[in-house]
Amino acid sequence: MGLFNFFTQEIAIDLGTANTLIIYDNKVVVDEPSIVAIDRRTDKVIAVGSQAMQMHEKTHDNIKTIRPLKDGVIADFQAAEAMIRAMIKMINPKGRLFKPSLAMVICIPSGITEVEKRAVYDSAEQAGARERYLIHEPMAAAIGIGINVQEPMGNMVIDIGGGTTEIAVIALSGIVCNQSIRIAGDEFNFDIVNYIRRQHNMLVGERTAEQIKIHVGSALTELDDPVEDFPVNGRDLMTGIPKQIIVNYSEIAHCLNKSITKIEEAVLKALEITPPELAADIYKTGLYLTGGGALLRGLDKRLSQKTKLPVHVADDPLRAVVRGTGIVLKDRAKFLSILIA
Ligand SMILES: Nc1ncnc2c1ncn2[C@@H]1O[C@H](COP(=O)(O)OP(=O)(O)O)[C@@H](O)[C@H]1O
Ligand SMILES: [Mg+2]
Repeated sequence: MGLFNFFTQEIAIDLGTANTLIIYDNKVVVDEPSIVAIDRRTDKVIAVGSQAMQMHEKTHDNIKTIRPLKDGVIADFQAAEAMIRAMIKMINPKGRLFKPSLAMVICIPSGITEVEKRAVYDSAEQAGARERYLIHEPMAAAIGIGINVQEPMGNMVIDIGGGTTEIAVIALSGIVCNQSIRIAGDEFNFDIVNYIRRQHNMLVGERTAEQIKIHVGSALTELDDPVEDFPVNGRDLMTGIPKQIIVNYSEIAHCLNKSITKIEEAVLKALEITPPELAADIYKTGLYLTGGGALLRGLDKRLSQKTKLPVHVADDPLRAVVRGTGIVLKDRAKFLSILIA
């Protein structure tokens, strides 16, 4: 109980379905995929984050990899808790324990239930946090983008993560309306796996689909800035032998079309249920795109064409949420009304 307890240690966590990020001491110190690898025989965690991701889809009978937050809900409580703890430990690799005065703000997907919120809250306590708050993802995203959420001004934020796309209209420190659909990055990958199988008679895994999406993913079949074709390795469906094919961005745009249309529909729906005075604001401010899905080529243009509204892509969209969570953490008094205690 010395001098050091005087300083409250603070951490902000973005608990995403695809990536978990932690800000400590004003810096992003953890940025890892939300995945754990577990030894089936002992139930012990053998790896978390990118280390576990490297094992994903390459495991044998004794190891399983789990993405505890798949689909925007906590699919596996135990794994989620193990993951949160291991990631917090990454901040302090020397194993120094946190002082009891730790304060923590955790951003959660807005689809999670009361029970799941409780579980996250309890894990934070287990990790040593005295002061614990939760915050909803669209709110954190809006703050991270730099929107003044407390103003009587409507702003629409579209956060396309791994499991869900969250569309929210925010004004006066609250979420006025909210649409959440389970079409986001994971579903895009799924579309790509299916497409490669059907069209090219080749089997690829989730991780290869992710690489395809990053290299030649597109929301438009014609881009102003076309990208080069991309070689893809996988297993031939007929012969069973590994082979290579070349894919181009237009065919990926075709195969993602259905899912992107569903996102467009959800955006239109959200606009439709927005109260008119806020709609008037959004006509001026436009739509803000964030989350990893915002990086899909041409998506801003496509949404802009569909809605006839300006669409802005957040700076560093993969980190907008954790940035926002960090801002709220620093100024808890100011943002008290938007925190879930
Ligand atoms: N360059 C990119 N193009 C398209 N999608 C991307 C790109 N980079 C990352 N993503 C996707 O973004 C998603 C992760 O975004 P993120 O905001 O971290 O999600 P979450 O908040 O659910 O953890 C993943 O599905 C990933 O495939
Ligand atoms: Mg997120």
